[in-house]
Amino acid sequence: MDILKNKVSLLSIVLLGLMASSCNDPNKTGWEFAPNMYNSRAYEAQTQWRSNSINPHGMNMRLPVEGTVARVTHPTEFVQDDGSVVSDLMIYDTSADSLEWAANNLVNPIPWSEEVEDEGKVLYQRNCMHCHGSKGAGDGKVAEIYKGVPNYASDALSSISGGHIFHVITHGKGRMWPHAAQVTPEERWKIVHYVQRLQLGI
Ligand code: HEC
Repeated sequence: MDILKNKVSLLSIVLLGLMASSCNDPNKTGWEFAPNMYNSRAYEAQTQWRSNSINPHGMNMRLPVEGTVARVTHPTEFVQDDGSVVSDLMIYDTSADSLEWAANNLVNPIPWSEEVEDEGKVLYQRNCMHCHGSKGAGDGKVAEIYKGVPNYASDALSSISGGHIFHVITHGKGRMWPHAAQVTPEERWKIVHYVQRLQLGI
């Protein structure tokens, strides 16, 4: 009996010792349930947890191919109505807290034309109308439940600039969520043309 007891306690000591030693290495998180859910087996561009045996430097990320032009130095030019050229205005890397700057400085790089405004209208109908309403009066279907949608033609909003509208679409404001992921910068500027039509309230 005593021998059995001794054996049991010896076994417990060994087990306890094993459990304790497995926690000693601060760099190891211990056992993982379904580890491939934490660390992808595929090479992911934005994360890396083990050396990549195929790419240079063991990295998942690759250097851009030779001749690649960085977006910030890619020239985008739009000929304005008066023949002047506005360039590099597609690069609006403004921060969320720069509304005032954007309102005063950003200029719509896409000249107005009926065609562009019509494209803006379609984009508006797809992305904004359910809240803002077909005439921008803040009476879309969703606004019945999601309160606080304003009228573009109200005193407060009828004179906000295109840069202001662009910034609000990009970063959101108050209860309005950012729409940068839904519409590209070019589409946003087209929407701006149409919102400016709705600001007239006619
Ligand atoms: C889910 C509903 C919803 C959608 C979709 C939506 N908005 Fe809004 N929008 C709001 C609300 C609510 C406000 C009021 C924000 C505040 O002041 O809290 C607002 C405010 C605004 C303003 C005024 C900002 C200011 O300075 O007061 C503009 C301009 C605007 N939205 C444009 C757009 C455009 C353009 C789209 C489509 C790309 C869009 N919104 C999509 C709900 C929405």
